[in-house]
Order: sequence, then C-alpha cells, then structure tokens
Amino acid sequence: MKKFQKRGIDYPIIDGQRTLPGKYYHDEKIYQEEIEKIFYKFWIYACRAEEIPAVGDFKLIQVEDESIILVRDKSNEIKAHFNVCRHRGTQLCTEEKGHFESKTIQCPYHAWTYQLDGNLISAPLMKEGNGFLKSECSLFKAHVTNWEGFLFISLAEDPVPFEDQMEALMGKFSDWNMADLRIAHHIKYELNCNWKLILHNYQECYHCPGVHPLLSELTPFQSAQHDFSKGAVIGGFMEISKKRGSMTMDGEAAGPPVCKVSGDDLQRVYYYSVFPNMLLTPHPDFVLFHHIIPKGPGKIINDCYWLFHPDVIEDKNAQARIQSAVDFWDLTNRQDWQVCEQMQVGTKSKRFTRGYYSGREDILLSLDKELLKALGHSKIDD
Ligand code: FES
Ligand SMILES: [Fe+2]
Repeated sequence: MKKFQKRGIDYPIIDGQRTLPGKYYHDEKIYQEEIEKIFYKFWIYACRAEEIPAVGDFKLIQVEDESIILVRDKSNEIKAHFNVCRHRGTQLCTEEKGHFESKTIQCPYHAWTYQLDGNLISAPLMKEGNGFLKSECSLFKAHVTNWEGFLFISLAEDPVPFEDQMEALMGKFSDWNMADLRIAHHIKYELNCNWKLILHNYQECYHCPGVHPLLSELTPFQSAQHDFSKGAVIGGFMEISKKRGSMTMDGEAAGPPVCKVSGDDLQRVYYYSVFPNMLLTPHPDFVLFHHIIPKGPGKIINDCYWLFHPDVIEDKNAQARIQSAVDFWDLTNRQDWQVCEQMQVGTKSKRFTRGYYSGREDILLSLDKELLKALGHSKIDD
C-alpha cells in the first residue's frame, strides 16, 4: 500500500476522494456567501505593521464592499476603523495609503473630525442633545491584532479570539522573529481564477514534478510532510536537498539563517495556508508570503512579498542573492498561476461536476471541509 508521512507516522494514501463541484469556483451567489460568512467574519490578513510605521500613517484595506482605515494612533497603537463618516455615511478617505498630517481624520463633506483612535472631536455647528452625543459617534471599529508583524483584522462585531482561529500558528515560527523582518520585494499579480484554487494549489505538491522542474530539484516532492491538517491554518514542510541551501535560482541560500532559525529548520521550507487569505512560507533565510484578495468568483489580486532581515536588505553585496530568491519564486508563481487559470476555465464546463483527489491532496479535502463548515453547507449538490 502507498504511504506518506504525517508527523513522523506513516499514513495510507487514500485516492479518489471527491473535489468541490465546479460551481464553487464560478457561482456569484456562493461567492457572495463566502464574502459574508468568511471574509466579513474571520480574522483576515490585512498588511504588515511596518507599512504604517509612524503616528498618523494609514493604509486602506478593501474587503469587497467594505473599506477599512488602518492607522497608527497617538498612543502608537494600530487601530482599524470602518471608512464611514458617522454624520451621513460619506467615505472619509480615498488615498490607498498616506499620512494624516493633522493627526486627525476629517470628513471632506461637512468636516466632522475624528481623532486617530476614532473618537469624534468636532461636528461643526452641532449642539449635543436631541439624541446626538459626540461620545456615541466614534468611527465604527473593526478588530485588529498584530501577530509577528502581520496585522490581521476582523470585521465581525464579536469575532472568535484570534488565538482560537490561528491555533496552529501560536508559538510556531517564533525563531524567525518575523516582526523584525522587512519587506525586501513585492510583486502584485492580477489573476483570473477563484481564490480557493490558489489555496489548493499551494497546499499540494502532486503537481510539482510536471509544473515546477526547478522547485522539484531543490525540494523533492516526496519530502512533503504535514504538521496540521485540520482547522483554519494547515500546513507542513518540505526538505531542502542542498545542505544550507534555499529556494533560489541556483539553490544556494539568499542570506544567513533568519534570527534564531536552527537545527532541522535549516533544511526545511514551510508551507502554511492561513485560511482564508494568506499563504506563509518561511525559509531558513527569508520569509515569503502571499496576500490573496478576491475580486469576484473568477478574479483575485495576489500580493506576494519577500521578507528579509534588515541587515541583509541594507547589505549592498546581498542584493543579487535577494534577487535570486525573488526570481525563483516569481518563476514558480507564474507556473502556478498558469495552471490555476486553466483550471478556472476548465471547471466552468457543463461536463465538469466533481473531480477526484489523489491521496497526496488529502489536505485539500480539509480546506474544503473548512469552507463548507464556514458556509454552513452540510450537503453538496453537484
Ligand atoms: S457626511 Fe461626513 S461630515 Fe457630513
Ligand atoms: Fe506550485
């Protein structure tokens, strides 16, 4: 019997489990349900804390119809506000990112003015009374938390604790000190496929020998192992075959090991999908991550970032090595995007109902179960 390893234990490979029906990648109604029940409810990745470094700096995060202002307030805390004036609902801010010079947020319509923490401080010519109290007109708040320099938000009124949703991440990767790392490179990809196809593609290496010849040379696809295969965060790792190597064009490391990375982690690249919108890939010498932003059933923006230690970023001699890591993943990304876009087209066919997972794709079944649980779909109709 074929077997594969999970946490050091041999498991039988079960071939033939069924995939989601094609409509889960195309149906506008299912997509809207995903937005309501997942993207407006779960903790979702928003941006890096380093992108809003100073008091008054802000970044807008668009989640389908909702716009959120992430801003660093005077107490140096990051706050998340709905981008909606409490007077008559005007959008307050339209710049994608910037700095509130006045250290206040002022509505362009009738000049209601809010502190960076969201409190309303001025409503010109309006007297309190008759049901109007400034203290009751703070900006609507979204929840925000900082995990290792990654800012996550939740638009739910009463979200589950971040630690519960992200249980598998807690304490994991602390050796990387990811809060200290900085963005060395960023590529924005606009893709014609459903957001789930990217998560699926990321979490299996059944496709690696055919689609990624170079990646398969650096990390044999049979070396894939799972750490977590249930819940919102699932992932595992693959072994890097070259001693002290990494995922670069020539397989050599792009820099020294990150912070306290040591032992087995020097020969591993981890692949964690942080449901629903982030893929986190710590290497011994850098961290790659993807931010997936759905833009309809068949469209996404996929922002890809390379994080390195600031010492490496500032070292002029290290630039070619950073570029080698960028080039490797840009090549690999594009190979993946090609097959994901082709799958988007193919699954639209009237003849396609449900496909079959191989045993090497069992983790995708967990992702599907997580999705169906979130949507409350107990039964799948083809
Ligand atoms: S709508 Fe914002 S001040 Fe009037
Ligand atoms: Fe791939």
